[in-house]
Amino acid sequence: MKLLRLLVVLFSVPMFAQQGGMWIPSLLNGMNETEMTNLGMKMSIEDIYSVNQSSLKDAVPQFNGGCTSEVISPNGLLLTNHHCGYGEIQAHSSVEHDYLQDGFWAKSYAEELPNEDLEVTFIVSINDVTKEVLAGVDALKSEADKKALIQKNISNLQKTYKREDWQNVMIRTFYEGNQYMLFVTESFEDVRLVGAPPSSIGKFGSDTDNWVWPRHTGDFALFRIYADKNNRPAKYSKDNVPYQPKHFLPVSLDGIEQDDFTMVFGYPGRTQEYLPSYAVEQIVEVLNPAKIGIRDAALKVTDGYMRQDQAIKIQYASKFASTANYWKKWIGESQGLKKSNAVATKKAYEADFTNKVNKAGKQAEYGNLLPQFEKLYKEITPYALANDYFQESLRNDELISIGFRLYQLENAYKQNGEQSFNDRKANLIKGFEALYKDYNKNVDKDVFEKVIELYGKNAPADLTPAVIKNIDYTKLTNTIYAKTVLTSYDGIKALLNGNATEVINKMNQDPGFKLVKDLADNYFDKVAPKYQELNTEIAALQRTYMKAQLEMNPDARIFPDANSTLRVTYGKVNGYAPKDAVTYDYVTYLDGVMEKYVPGDYEFDVPQKLIDLYNTNDFGVYADKNGKLPVNFIGTNHTTGGNSGSPALDAEGNLIGLNFDRVWEGTMSDIYYDPAICRNIMVDARYILFVIDKYADAKHLIEEMKIVYPKQASKDKELKDNKLKKVKKNKKK
Ligand code: ARG
Ligand code: ASP
Repeated sequence: MKLLRLLVVLFSVPMFAQQGGMWIPSLLNGMNETEMTNLGMKMSIEDIYSVNQSSLKDAVPQFNGGCTSEVISPNGLLLTNHHCGYGEIQAHSSVEHDYLQDGFWAKSYAEELPNEDLEVTFIVSINDVTKEVLAGVDALKSEADKKALIQKNISNLQKTYKREDWQNVMIRTFYEGNQYMLFVTESFEDVRLVGAPPSSIGKFGSDTDNWVWPRHTGDFALFRIYADKNNRPAKYSKDNVPYQPKHFLPVSLDGIEQDDFTMVFGYPGRTQEYLPSYAVEQIVEVLNPAKIGIRDAALKVTDGYMRQDQAIKIQYASKFASTANYWKKWIGESQGLKKSNAVATKKAYEADFTNKVNKAGKQAEYGNLLPQFEKLYKEITPYALANDYFQESLRNDELISIGFRLYQLENAYKQNGEQSFNDRKANLIKGFEALYKDYNKNVDKDVFEKVIELYGKNAPADLTPAVIKNIDYTKLTNTIYAKTVLTSYDGIKALLNGNATEVINKMNQDPGFKLVKDLADNYFDKVAPKYQELNTEIAALQRTYMKAQLEMNPDARIFPDANSTLRVTYGKVNGYAPKDAVTYDYVTYLDGVMEKYVPGDYEFDVPQKLIDLYNTNDFGVYADKNGKLPVNFIGTNHTTGGNSGSPALDAEGNLIGLNFDRVWEGTMSDIYYDPAICRNIMVDARYILFVIDKYADAKHLIEEMKIVYPKQASKDKELKDNKLKKVKKNKKK
């Protein structure tokens, strides 16, 4: 039975199905171009990426390092997600004008709000520099020497590569060290907030709906790029002017239909599609459950307090959302990996790989890879688990994270002396002020007890410090929180007052600090060194495995894992069937917003004006042909974190949507992409324009965009052509 299943899996070989993948925009010629054309694309590859003429890439900058954005007007108007601009919207908000709550719309350039530390980065060109980066590397024996030479070659290139003074050079590895690409980039630092809907539109459904389809979120915000008089990047100045892009995206109001071609263009952050089965097993069986467990406990405690106390709700809202985001993703990921038999599929793929290696007579080079992986993953498991317990404790409990910063302060003194200590201390005190504004001792104390208990009981015993093993966790927590001064800003300021020796003496008498020090010492003595050593070995193995996979499958669609560089992914508008008897449609409507509406609820409230527009069917040109207003839609584009804010484009490169999430059942796509259930979620461009126009009455913004109706236009053209043909025929007669 098992064998049969394996065979079925093997012969359907879904590892390289004709879907999915995040491709390098400068290398789309050939296979990708054919696939895209077959899916319905009407552009040429040069329209997407070109160094000689303006192309789509000139309209798609990375947004603040972690998201994507796109230029949608000749005056540098920039579209991204509400959740990507959340920090900026929050920073401009106060009790008198709460833009998160009420939304914000600048009525003129003068009202647009500058943002410190916000930048967007365009790609000017992409070039393969593998030869230059790997020059001389093969001759070296040790991994450490190889690493050092690669680093040296990279910094040489960075210094010497030809570029304009306002441009930068960035080099990234692809295919796990087998290929290197150089990007010339331009970063703009004067980016101003132009518009944002209220959270009841931009974050509608909040954490409950996060990672979930059907979805009804207007997750968008508008910014504008400013440049100096020469249209070049410049620091903020009131004399700067709206940036004139090399290209901006027209917005199509034609809307989407089943099977329409879609392309998502953006900066996916990180995927791990080529892991061996042993690694996937470890994620599903060991690491995800541990991380989910810790976050589960921390979130439950925090949620309990947030529901009882409005002040705590405000203090913890943003932290809660960020912790919950990946907590929820990992749960979906584990379920999806199990449900799609990812491990069995990988094992079948590995059997096939081994066969190919044997047939090619490459046993000496590649025959040992998989057994080596098996051995190393077995060895690293306890260290990886201990590492995750330590990291997640640090991330989820505030006392531990504060204590750890003091631990680093003590180390700075030990390693670099008083000056380094003082610099770090000054920075810490500044940072702590903001931290303690959003700190509640009761929440933190309860989270601490839960987190430490999970850590003490479940991390591998010989890699866990004695102080948290086999103890009464309530008692430990009470003892620490009765005495520690790390639970208030005044307490920590007093603690940090004095010279290095005095401060370090005081710190080492604080029971909170002492516990964190025990955790951290244990981690750096017993866990980190071995963990890193094994990881380096695994990375080297993975590099060879990647090379071997490319070599053994010369015609397969093997795309490089995401690495925060610009990629193209394409597919079509399509629903999915996540489980028995359930099928999901590909589009949601404003009707669905009203179905979910819970008056006064922080997740599902709906603003009155939107209700009015709904009740009067006042959708203008944004309704679909049945008079309904589309809100979100899904497609088979392979996306990941970092793709938020990416444009969804039609066959001709017009904007039809704004990517912001993935469906719950398909969140395992970072490790294993299953075209049957992996879908990305986009805001329909018509909903965005509707909110700007009808809800916010910001018609001047619509006016600066270029609105198109390509399907309508091609139908008109067809009609005209047909008429012409008829006329010609008639003439012949
Ligand atoms: N899950 C989406 C992404 O990973 C959206 C996250 C923001 N929304 C939220 N409710 N936390 O980033
Ligand atoms: N929501 C993600 C982002 O912020 C996108 C995803 O993970 O699908 O980039």
